[in-house]
Amino acid sequence: MKTVKKAIIPAAGLGTRFLPATKAMPKEMLPIVDKPTIQYIVEEAIESGIEDIIIVTGKGKRAIEDHFDHAFELEQNLMEKQKFELLEKVKHASDLANIHYIRQKEPKGLGHAVWCARKFIGDEPFAVLLGDDIVQAEKPCLRQLIEEYEQTQASVIGVQTVPESETHRYGIIDPIGQNGRRYQVRQFVEKPKQGTAPSNLAIMGRYVLNPEIFMFLEEQQIGAGGEIQLTDAIQRLNEIQRVFAYDFEGKRYDVGEKLGFIKTTVEFALNHEDLKEDVMKFMEDLLKNKIEV
Ligand code: UTP
Repeated sequence: MKTVKKAIIPAAGLGTRFLPATKAMPKEMLPIVDKPTIQYIVEEAIESGIEDIIIVTGKGKRAIEDHFDHAFELEQNLMEKQKFELLEKVKHASDLANIHYIRQKEPKGLGHAVWCARKFIGDEPFAVLLGDDIVQAEKPCLRQLIEEYEQTQASVIGVQTVPESETHRYGIIDPIGQNGRRYQVRQFVEKPKQGTAPSNLAIMGRYVLNPEIFMFLEEQQIGAGGEIQLTDAIQRLNEIQRVFAYDFEGKRYDVGEKLGFIKTTVEFALNHEDLKEDVMKFMEDLLKNKIEV
């Protein structure tokens, strides 16, 4: 039985929805409270049993490599000041896993970013995790997909329900059969025009894929938004072997756009032991003043 030990985290996009913040700083390094988004993703991969991670980076993304590297001066400084708790947090990021990097020379789309990592993956099944979605779940989201893969040996795509009005922002599945949380899929459609989506089950940035996907990514066909789309290659894979969708358990936070990012920050701050009371009080005062004005 094949299992999944390698993961790709594409992080070479331009992050235009967060400009100007992302002009000189990678979107993946924007923090939710005190941790960069990409660290939540790396932690999920490791908790799911992934042993090797390849991050696809691009121009202006050096901060990602620095974040997962040792920072000797900083560690020394924290040690001298006996700030041991902070020292642990700083070291944790660099001790996380075997992290490798590859550059996507031009941001030609998510499908192209995944294709850039093909030599690292070789002929094995692999995971893809996107930083746009953070998922909090009892069993890590990727672990759920890997367990599905172990049962079927078929590629499996993480989905969740979104409101009808938002389907045009996502890859959407056209399901033909359901067995518990697993769906058989007729078609995967990237960003369908409003009102044309075949369902409201949306692809949520977690995938387990068989390596045959690279045959289709190799052809580099341009899709929605003028980009090489991963969803299009998944649809072609689905035509030659089974690809399932899996409605994973857990709460998903959309941190790839501004409102979702703000909501996530507030909710995570309210779950933070050191912050929650002050944040709650601040919000109450803020709302009171708004109502009084
Ligand atoms: P997004 O489309 O959400 O990211 O791609 P983006 O392009 O950086 O953001 P906007 O839309 O301009 O605001 C999903 C993930 O795929 C990566 C991104 O870094 C992001 O993590 N990606 C996207 C690449 O690695 N390369 C690409 O060419 C495109």
